Amino acid sequence: MSHLSGAQVRVYPDPAQVSVALAAALLEQMRRAAREHGRCALVLAGGNTPRELYRRLAELSARDPLWRQVEVFFSDERWVGHQSEASNYRMAREALLQHVPIPARQVHPIATDAPDPAQAAAQYERLLRRADGDVRRLDVVLLGMGADGHTASLFPGAPALAETRRLVLATRAPVAPHQRITMTFPAINTAAEVHFLVTGAGKAQMVARALDPATPVTEVPAAGVRPTCGCLTWWLDEPAASGLTGGE
Ligand code: 6PG
Repeated sequence: MSHLSGAQVRVYPDPAQVSVALAAALLEQMRRAAREHGRCALVLAGGNTPRELYRRLAELSARDPLWRQVEVFFSDERWVGHQSEASNYRMAREALLQHVPIPARQVHPIATDAPDPAQAAAQYERLLRRADGDVRRLDVVLLGMGADGHTASLFPGAPALAETRRLVLATRAPVAPHQRITMTFPAINTAAEVHFLVTGAGKAQMVARALDPATPVTEVPAAGVRPTCGCLTWWLDEPAASGLTGGE
């Protein structure tokens, strides 16, 4: 179903069914990008919710040559070592990346061994720009949302929300780990396909706010995700969709 905000909204009975449907959709879009451009740039989300999706994706594509044409990026990272339980890269590696035939050089974790988060952000920004300085094409971007409305590591009230130029910034989260590196709206909103995966009743109210075009982005950062030339789809379980009324 489509929403007043212009986003597509897809609702499934439970998180497992959301993951099954989203995994199939992601693979189809990745395949299309690889066919049309010879490459697919896939941006992964952190947090816990995507773990099941990543396992499902790995199951569906464990031997799929498609992965040879995929480059993996991260929408955000916590300033912790890649071995840390809090590392978004570690979660993606364990649930997905180590189970599929993607060449190691095509996986681009955010470097948390850089001297500081600002330098890690600058380094990642360079990776996201082509030689001519333009933003490289991001084909498929996956995002989550926190119960406070944050997405990637763009938190309510953060100065990073107002960024119009830089693609990656060091930022602070109100919850630990506090130091983060995050893609900004100027990066995310260039994507061809953006998907939010959100489950659970605890996020229902924020889902409704994020999908309301009148919601201020400073209050609900997820509302600032509006791909300028791409498609936005929200993948929800029924509890997460329970605050949506009319217009969907
Ligand atoms: C992170 C994220 C973040 C995440 C939400 C939802 O590094 O924390 O990328 O934006 O997607 O916090 O997290 P959960 O899925 O754990 O609720």
